[in-house]
Amino acid sequence: MTQRLKDKVALITGAGSGLGRVSAITFAREGAKVIVADVNVKGGEETAEMIRSAGGESTFVKTDVSNAADVERLIRRTVETYGRLDCAHNNAGIEGADLLTADYTEEEWDRVISINLKGVWLCMRYEIPQMLQQKGGVIVNTSSAAGLKGFQYHSAYSATKHAIIGLSKTAALEYARKGIRINVVCPGFIRVGLTEQVIARNPAMEGKLKALIPMGRFGEAEEVAEAVIWLCSDAASFVTGHMMLIDGGASA
Ligand SMILES: NC(=O)c1ccc[n+]([C@@H]2O[C@H](COP(=O)([O-])OP(=O)(O)OC[C@H]3O[C@@H](n4cnc5c(N)ncnc54)[C@H](O)[C@@H]3O)[C@@H](O)[C@H]2O)c1
Repeated sequence: MTQRLKDKVALITGAGSGLGRVSAITFAREGAKVIVADVNVKGGEETAEMIRSAGGESTFVKTDVSNAADVERLIRRTVETYGRLDCAHNNAGIEGADLLTADYTEEEWDRVISINLKGVWLCMRYEIPQMLQQKGGVIVNTSSAAGLKGFQYHSAYSATKHAIIGLSKTAALEYARKGIRINVVCPGFIRVGLTEQVIARNPAMEGKLKALIPMGRFGEAEEVAEAVIWLCSDAASFVTGHMMLIDGGASA
């Protein structure tokens, strides 16, 4: 089968586990050289090693996406290692505390905003100049179905995921004539990462969450990765500022 991203250089944040790991592995399978970025060294190293042992090229760079110096270094290391940056999947994110809006502490509010929202902006802040210099590139930011609807007990999370859509659409307009496409994926409940963490804390949630999904099942991480790959590929060459739902029909 033809590889859709042969010889492209891809960067995935939050690639030390969950959706980001599967995205990184899928980019590599499609022929890309992959920079794995995560604050979690063990998980990040493992993902890069999984790619290398399957015959791909990958390097892990420890990065806290809420820290400007770290993100600036991440893009520099990407270009030093593989010469350019073609595709960026800004995926790192946290759920934050499970609390009513008025019970959030200022510290927890700031933590969620810093990682989920400022983190995506900081990544674009350093990715876009590199892509402008190369005269092209593609960015996919990860929002959530909670970026379109409220998500009780997760106001900070839902606020950041709504904001990522506005940020991405605005940047898509600004760089549309500069060869940079910027899109957003909005996964619903996917059977890894944050959804797994919710069910581990409260097993009764599994049935309740599935009941919200018309397809009657959780999504697979591969189903999100496929959407990200398509958005990054030339098949999506006229697609920018798009918000793609991958939620088994939950928002329909
Ligand atoms: N799993 C789902 O059902 C689901 C649904 C909708 C959206 N999402 C979104 O998908 C993305 C990935 O989530 P996941 O479910 O795979 O969860 P996950 O916890 O498995 O993965 C998140 C990764 O981000 C990393 N990370 C956390 N803070 C970081 C920081 N400051 N800098 C760099 N990396 C950091 C973590 O170490 C982890 O490896 C998130 O943005 C999440 O909001 C997930």
